[in-house]
Order: sequence, then structure tokens, then C-alpha cells
Amino acid sequence: MASKYINITLKVWRQKNANAKGAMETYKLNEVSTDSSFLEMMDQLNEQLINDRQEPVAFDHDCREGICGMCSMYINGRAHGPDTGTTTCQLHMRKFNDGDTIYIEPWRAKAFPVIKDLVVDRSAFDRIQQAGGFVSVNTSGRTMDANAIPVPKVDADKAFEAAACIGCGACVASCKNSSAMLFVGAKVSQYALLPQGRVEAKERVLNMVRQMDEEGFGNCTNTGACEVECPKGISIENIARMNREFLKAALTSEK
Ligand code: SF4
Ligand code: FES
Repeated sequence: MASKYINITLKVWRQKNANAKGAMETYKLNEVSTDSSFLEMMDQLNEQLINDRQEPVAFDHDCREGICGMCSMYINGRAHGPDTGTTTCQLHMRKFNDGDTIYIEPWRAKAFPVIKDLVVDRSAFDRIQQAGGFVSVNTSGRTMDANAIPVPKVDADKAFEAAACIGCGACVASCKNSSAMLFVGAKVSQYALLPQGRVEAKERVLNMVRQMDEEGFGNCTNTGACEVECPKGISIENIARMNREFLKAALTSEK
């Protein structure tokens, strides 16, 4: 497809720091190649702002390949923008038309406070993962080859799908309750489905759910918005599995 150039208007959330009151600012951006990615378009905006001696927009990014989960942006009312199964960095400007107005906001959730402009603090996710603890794998030198441990194909596939979660937080941002249960469900499932993860499975689910509640995330009310907006297609089946794991652990735990 031949590349073309479009002129757009951007409405971008600007907020100096965590305590400042933010507001939407309007910028005109011309000659945006439809071949550029959304983040390249943001780079173009920042070059324009720097040339105009204005402060560039702070936004998070790292891999720009859909892997790291950093590029958290709410675009036209949708987490990661209008494409399904796509992170902001993998979104391209060909999805937009000449003359479009594009609204860009940070994730909005109590547990993800805004640090500056479009950057939010997602360290609550790190603390939940840390609460999950370790996996007992014998690395003493007599380590068993992972391929020698029989795992049903269906379980291996489900564990692999759950492990595709990149911790981006789109599930939280798109949930009306700011629930983190899709993320935590995926993290619990990727271990619970495999024999290697069963040793600490009970403690893991209890600790991760406790930490999730302490961080101030809301509860799941089964609206399914998280699954729709998840760029990695994580299924809400993982929430059901986490709930089963939690119930089993809570009923049999001696702690
Ligand atoms: S479950 Fe999906 S939306 Fe939520 S953090 Fe993982 S990849 Fe992102
Ligand atoms: S920048 Fe890494 S997933 Fe988008």
C-alpha cells in the first residue's frame, strides 16, 4: 500500500507531576506518514514541541515490539487504541484518517497513579508478582530435563497462552472497577497449570490475591472488557482458574 501523509489534531493529557492538576492540551500535527507507528507519531509531536521550545510529552515505551508492555496509552477511549490484539507501539497511523482528532490519555486507575503526562506508576504489578514468590526447580547440577516431565499438551498450551501476558495494565485501565484479575489470573495460571509450579501453588495464589487487594485494585464483575482490550488475547478463563485455585488454597491452607 502506498504511503500517504495525513494532518491530525491531538488532544493530549498533560500533567506536570503526580500532585499537579492535569488537563487536555491541543496540538496540530501535519505531514504524518501513515506508515509510521503511533509512537513514531508521538516522537514527531515531541520534535515539533522541542522546536517550538515547549516541553515534550512524557510517555512510556521500551521495546516498541509488543513485548515489554510499557506503552500504556488510552487512545480515543480505548486501551492501546482502535486495533484489537495490538499494543500502542504496534498500532500504525494508517488506522487514522486525514483530519482526525485523536484523544490520548494515561491509564486511569487508583492503583496506577499518573507520574507525568501519559506515564503511570505500574509498580503495583511488580509487587503482586514479587508476592507470588519463587518456583522450586532443582538446579543442583542434577537438574531434570524439562522435556522429561510429562505435561498434557492442552495444559502446556494454556500455560503458554497465560504466559503471553506482558503486564501492560490495559485490563485494569479498561475495567470499570479497575480490576487486575485478568493480569493476576494469567500469572497464577502460567504456573498452576504446570507440575513445576504446583509445589508453591497454594501460597502463590493466596499471596498474590492478598497483594492485589492491598494495592487497591477493584473486584471483577464479569463485564469482560479486560479480555476484549487485552493486546495478548488473555482469556477470562484465567480469572475462573485463579478463583478455583484461591478457593482450594483458602479452604485447605493451614496458615
Ligand atoms: S492480561 Fe492482557 S491487558 Fe492485562 S496486563 Fe496482561 S497483557 Fe496486559
Ligand atoms: S513499547 Fe514494549 S510493548 Fe509497546
